[in-house]
Amino acid sequence: MSSPLAAKRIVLGVTGSIAAYKVADWVRSLKRDGATVTVIMSKGGARFVTPLTFAALSGNHVHDDMFSMSMAEQIPHIELAKQCDLLLVAPASADAIARLAQGLADDLLSTVALATEAPIMLCPAMNSKMFMHPATQTNLARLAEFGYRIIKPDVGAMACGDDGPGRLPEWHVARHAILSIFARQDLTGRSVLVTAGPTWEPLDPVRFLSNRSSGKMGYAVAAAASQRGASVTLISGPTTLHAPPGVNTIQITTAQEMYDETISRAEGIDVVVKAAAVSDFRPDTQADQKLKKATAKAGTLTLHANPDILQTLGQRKGKCHYPLLVGFAAESEDHLNEGRRKLREKNLDLMVVNDITGVDCGFGVDTNRVTLLDYNDATEELPLLSKEETAHRIWDRVARLLDSQ
Ligand code: C5P
Repeated sequence: MSSPLAAKRIVLGVTGSIAAYKVADWVRSLKRDGATVTVIMSKGGARFVTPLTFAALSGNHVHDDMFSMSMAEQIPHIELAKQCDLLLVAPASADAIARLAQGLADDLLSTVALATEAPIMLCPAMNSKMFMHPATQTNLARLAEFGYRIIKPDVGAMACGDDGPGRLPEWHVARHAILSIFARQDLTGRSVLVTAGPTWEPLDPVRFLSNRSSGKMGYAVAAAASQRGASVTLISGPTTLHAPPGVNTIQITTAQEMYDETISRAEGIDVVVKAAAVSDFRPDTQADQKLKKATAKAGTLTLHANPDILQTLGQRKGKCHYPLLVGFAAESEDHLNEGRRKLREKNLDLMVVNDITGVDCGFGVDTNRVTLLDYNDATEELPLLSKEETAHRIWDRVARLLDSQ
């Protein structure tokens, strides 16, 4: 399964912060994504984690000396600067940030930063007082002016016992930022609303009706849109997933709550993608107290139909294409015909159909195999892909539909 980071050449600058040990694991994650990682360590960085660790994890020579004779004839700082799709400085210490802001060129990392034409991303990680110091903040503002991408540190307990901003962000946050650097920015200026996950329809305070949706597909759709420059709102049913960074995520529980949030926010939105598996029915009544086995009437559960959110949006838009409506149809039989029927009935612009009978597609797994049907009856069958890639292929198609309007 290919990742958007496959074959990307990442030069990773590791500087003097205790968070260097966490970045060792980022190298493994980047390699799993198919990226090539070449590590440059500052003198401080090499005091926290040995170059040997990074050499073993990256599978590449670790560069820690500007005047090394090991590849002197290739002029290391120029070679590394050229063979680089992204210079990622993580952790970026206060000292490294100050030196980069001054444009110093007295070690390998600062020299590569001056010489490269690749984008540069910094993940500051340090004690919160050092991070908040006006000197560090001024240096970061200056680097942002130079075009460096600065990832905000997390707030929380630090290794030194202090509490505040300065923790290295989680890998999923850094990865999202890296993907945004490489993504096509074709949704810039567009507003997108995505729904994801299941809904829970309570029967009593402890029981509910629901379905097997994990939310993975919808979260991937929201993350991909944000990486491509859209302003994204995600309305999510209960899931165990991280909210995608930079996405306005609204948590709901029931189909009625999803209806209320979606309908009230759909005005003025360019694209609505309804990846949520909305429960079609809810129990007619919700008991205030837990139903007792002895007193509940066995064998009967009266259900009430939930409103169809997408159909409501489709009816409201009439004959025009705004907002562009994208639906998902998870089907276990006759999936293309069912998809076409729902596309027409709900007045959609694009329907993403998946056959949920395969083990590698549909609920819970990280892969999917879908067919895209549009209102012109065009059919595009996608191969088995990661949900992340599937999301991008959906946006490729939506971007074309937006351009054709
Ligand atoms: O459940 P069904 O197969 O009809 O779902 C097709 C599409 O309609 C999906 O995109 C789903 O999110 C949406 N839907 C909805 N409101 C419902 C049921 C489904 O928006 N009550």
